[in-house]
Amino acid sequence: MNSDSETAPRAPARVLGADPAALDEAARVLLAGGLVAVPTETVYGLAADATNGAAVAAIYTAKGRPSFNPLICHVADLAMAESLAVMSPLARALATRFWPGPLTLVLPRSRECPVHELVTAGLPSIALRQPQHIATLGIISRVGRPLAAPSANPSEQLSPTTAAHVASGLGSKIDLIIDGGACRAGLESTIIAPGEDGAVLLRAGALARSEIELLTGPLRSPDAARGVVAPGMLRRHYAPRARLRLGASNVESGEAFLAFGAPPAGVSPSLNLSIRGDLAEAASNLFAMLRVLDSTHSAIAVAPIPETGLGEAINDRLRRGAALS
Ligand code: TXA
Ligand code: MG
Repeated sequence: MNSDSETAPRAPARVLGADPAALDEAARVLLAGGLVAVPTETVYGLAADATNGAAVAAIYTAKGRPSFNPLICHVADLAMAESLAVMSPLARALATRFWPGPLTLVLPRSRECPVHELVTAGLPSIALRQPQHIATLGIISRVGRPLAAPSANPSEQLSPTTAAHVASGLGSKIDLIIDGGACRAGLESTIIAPGEDGAVLLRAGALARSEIELLTGPLRSPDAARGVVAPGMLRRHYAPRARLRLGASNVESGEAFLAFGAPPAGVSPSLNLSIRGDLAEAASNLFAMLRVLDSTHSAIAVAPIPETGLGEAINDRLRRGAALS
């Protein structure tokens, strides 16, 4: 399915709905080594059979992603996770409480784990999550193998929260897009590495820190935990083309204003992440609204977002989008 060379023109990806026949077709394409964009509750993922090295390599090529950056494996259920990783009692408790859902666990690879080395970039660990979208769970069950899936966007650009976003970024590079509607959460999963003495937060995301800490105690930062890193946390990431100015309380000439809650006096917002100041609503709107403003402006002023709850992940994405290099 991906045997054509990188440069050969190919037909735009087919877009199918999320009915059973479409899920059968997605599974068929994946088992043949193809690439399928799939909906999840966080963002759309670009999926391949995680045990097929050539298919996984095609993900890196389609995204233009540095090959040292490992991918998340999506599982159908806890039993599939247990076949891939060594799950401690804490890891099992986290999976039981939060799966299916926006929590990724970085765990030691099990000895018999069939996932290709390219997925884990040669690391002794593997990142796992069970996504909360009925279509994608149906596809993984049909395939019967884990699916490696990073966000379905060209590397460093904004993550896609609709099938149309996927088509505009990667439509000419992949085989099939399953349209399961707009993503509910709109931000990538939270990534943690549970250890013997608590857990390390590798990426803030759609599950708020406070919810996880009820089970793990205070999450530590990677700097405080020697040797545990998420290699994909490049500083510039999730970036629109437009320059971002964060924490803005005014709008300057040529800028769009992306508000959160009541706008500052005298400023008429271009768009509002959440008029009522709701962080979950803001998270689900973030990437889609940045995309819209990016298409009309070369600079975007963004209102301050509180650092509480999902605000931690929203601000993380905004800071990465604002980083110059
Ligand atoms: O919500 C999400 O997590 C989306 C949807 C599609 O599930 N996926 C996603 O995947 O954001 P991706 O590949 O864009 O992000 C994977 C992150 C990277 O920062 C990578 O470095 C980290 O997970 N990661 C993967 N495997 C790891 C490992 N073994 N150890 C540490 N970090 C790992
Ligand atoms: Mg990504």
